[in-house]
Amino acid sequence: MAFRDTKSKIIIKTPEQIQGIRESSVLAAQTLKEVAPFVQPGVSTEFLNKICAQFMQDHKAVPATLGYHGYPKETCISVNDVVCHGIPGPYELREGDIVNIDVTTILNGYYGDTSSMFMVGEVSDHAQKLVAVTKECLAIGIRECFIGNPLNNIGYQINKYATSFGYSTVYEFCGHGVGLKFHEEPEVSHIADKNTGPILAPGMIFTIEPMINAGKARCKVDKKDNWTARTIDGRLSAQFEHTICVTKDKPFVLTDINGEFEIPESVF
Ligand code: MF3
Ligand code: CO
Ligand code: CO
Repeated sequence: MAFRDTKSKIIIKTPEQIQGIRESSVLAAQTLKEVAPFVQPGVSTEFLNKICAQFMQDHKAVPATLGYHGYPKETCISVNDVVCHGIPGPYELREGDIVNIDVTTILNGYYGDTSSMFMVGEVSDHAQKLVAVTKECLAIGIRECFIGNPLNNIGYQINKYATSFGYSTVYEFCGHGVGLKFHEEPEVSHIADKNTGPILAPGMIFTIEPMINAGKARCKVDKKDNWTARTIDGRLSAQFEHTICVTKDKPFVLTDINGEFEIPESVF
């Protein structure tokens, strides 16, 4: 649709909704903190999923992924060349693996979505570098979350940074509006044209979740499970994700519980 007004479809959340989404986002982040010490050689991804599922249940949250379009597990766990939507299973982690764990909680009806990379034992320098650059890509995207900025400047800056290291940015999966549903408007592309897209306004909440590949950008989805997305060339992929609320001041990183980003005084 050439003349679709995407702007009008982005929900501006109320202060009450933002509070609810913040609480869910904190719980999602706490789930990642809970599972972190278990990411060790010999541990199966299914076991890591169980730790996350139990933590969510203990805190009265529902895992948003379970049953979502038929997805079978409470988290996504993506190892090495898996870009995203890895299904936890019997695979046992090995020294040198890089692992993304992606948690989406529903708490009191509100959604929080975050993911982080974990390194298993000693990891090669090139894998460490990919993970560090991908983490910085997310921070760069977050810095673009201010009033009046066109949304696509997020993806423009992320891709510019990633490609400066010879990496490529995945374009087949995007960030998304989140909060009242799992996936809302807008779609947040991590590779985009400068100064395009809807204009950011206070109360907008969406994820930024760059997937950065060491080699080619293209992905292929596993034919057997219809979920696991791998890099086309078998090379490594990394991803970090936060849920962010645009405010009149600095961005409010709702899934940050480590004080990596400053908390703004108010949203509106
Ligand atoms: N949590 C993922 C995201 O960041 C989505 C997973 S959808 C699933 O958007 F169905 F694979 F679980
Ligand atoms: Co997401
Ligand atoms: Co996610």
